[in-house]
Amino acid sequence: MAIQKQLIAVLQLLLIALVFDIANGKGLELGFYRYTCPRVEAIVRKTTANYIHRAPSLAAGLLRMHFHDCFVRGCDGSVLLNSTANNQAEKEGIPNLTLRGFQVVDAAKTALEAACPGVVSCADILALVARDAIYQIKGPFWPVPLGRRDGRVSIANEALTSLPSPFANITQLKANFASKGLNTKDLVVLSGGHTVGVSHCPVIVNRLYNFTGKGDTDPSLDPKFIPQLKSICSPTDTTSVLAMDRTPRSFDEDYYTVVLRKRGLFQSDAALLNDKQTSAYVKLQSKSFGYTFFNDFSKSMVKMGKIGVLTGSAGEIRRTCALVN
Ligand code: HEM
Ligand SMILES: *[C@@H]1O[C@H](CO)[C@@H](O)[C@H](O)[C@H]1NC(C)=O
Ligand SMILES: *[C@@H]1O[C@H](CO)[C@@H](O)[C@H](O)[C@H]1NC(C)=O
Ligand SMILES: *[C@@H]1O[C@H](CO)[C@@H](O)[C@H](O)[C@H]1NC(C)=O
Ligand SMILES: *[C@@H]1O[C@H](CO)[C@@H](O)[C@H](O)[C@H]1NC(C)=O
Repeated sequence: MAIQKQLIAVLQLLLIALVFDIANGKGLELGFYRYTCPRVEAIVRKTTANYIHRAPSLAAGLLRMHFHDCFVRGCDGSVLLNSTANNQAEKEGIPNLTLRGFQVVDAAKTALEAACPGVVSCADILALVARDAIYQIKGPFWPVPLGRRDGRVSIANEALTSLPSPFANITQLKANFASKGLNTKDLVVLSGGHTVGVSHCPVIVNRLYNFTGKGDTDPSLDPKFIPQLKSICSPTDTTSVLAMDRTPRSFDEDYYTVVLRKRGLFQSDAALLNDKQTSAYVKLQSKSFGYTFFNDFSKSMVKMGKIGVLTGSAGEIRRTCALVN
């Protein structure tokens, strides 16, 4: 009896250790390709630089793509897969809205296949490209442990169910991040990714024209800001873009200033004011000039990059990022 109980306890511990390891990206390491593709980081950096130099705004698209990859089935490159005759891929999911930068990942893959064929995963390439792009626009730098392998599955509907919604409240956002092993601080820090890039009108027209179905506006949005937003977005506009903060090309703390002034674009941005911990962080960053934001962002990005990774002999190394082998 006692021995059985002990055995069960040991097995439970092992199981916990296993789950913990998966959640923490065991199998990833800096220098993973040191023997098999030693120039991997230099090659990705150079390819990314060529694109970002010509089109700096792509950095935002690449950061978002890495986030979408990690939140749906883990950072396994599934966001890069194309649909097939029998399957609608993540790209086809509603929140895919305007993912951009696929050409940068493809170009880096082409360069790497020439240098070290069949070695570097598309998931690792995306993690590196996103990091290099943000660093190139003078954002923070973070180390990217490597060794991710590529998944073979990509399902449109999972993009809708796994990604946080821009209409979510703070409780839902915290729960979504917790389900990926990320805490409340990670939520408020990574939301700071909205310091760069653009959004499209459909995400916010409800806040401007018909918030509760009575032709009203969202009270959590600064009323003085509403006419400006309306001048860009008619109720049916699907193509015009809105800057995420006042300096959408520079990675800075302005996102937090904007959120504090009730001018964050999404309900999910405004929601950060509805929790003690997240609102305290928003206030702190919005007025701090020796900001901790860069340092915090780097730490949380490393965590995000480890979500649900495939390592060891799981998955595969895709030859083409849009296609399973
Ligand atoms: C907290 C929950 C989040 C929600 C609800 C959310 C939602 C959205 C939405 C709806 C858009 C605009 C899409 C469009 O209309 O084109 C967007 C853009 C963007 N998001 Fe998020 N996001 C979240 C978290 C993040 C995180 C964690 C990152 C990265 C660390 C991120 C980075 C970006 C970037 C860079 C853009 C601009 C993309 C571009 O310019 O192409 N977001 N997000
Ligand atoms: C994937 O789909 C895109 C968009 O439809 C297309 O341009 C691209 O050529 C496809 N890639 C491959 C490898 O089939
Ligand atoms: C995103 O989904 C829409 C609608 O399903 C589709 O028309 C569009 O091509 C997709 N975008 C990408 C980048 O695959
Ligand atoms: C958040 O949204 C959920 C689902 O709509 C709802 O049940 C919950 O009461 C909301 N929480 C807050 C704090 O508004
Ligand atoms: C606002 O929403 C309500 C309820 O969904 C709808 O009946 C009404 O037509 C909408 N009004 C406008 C101006 O879109």
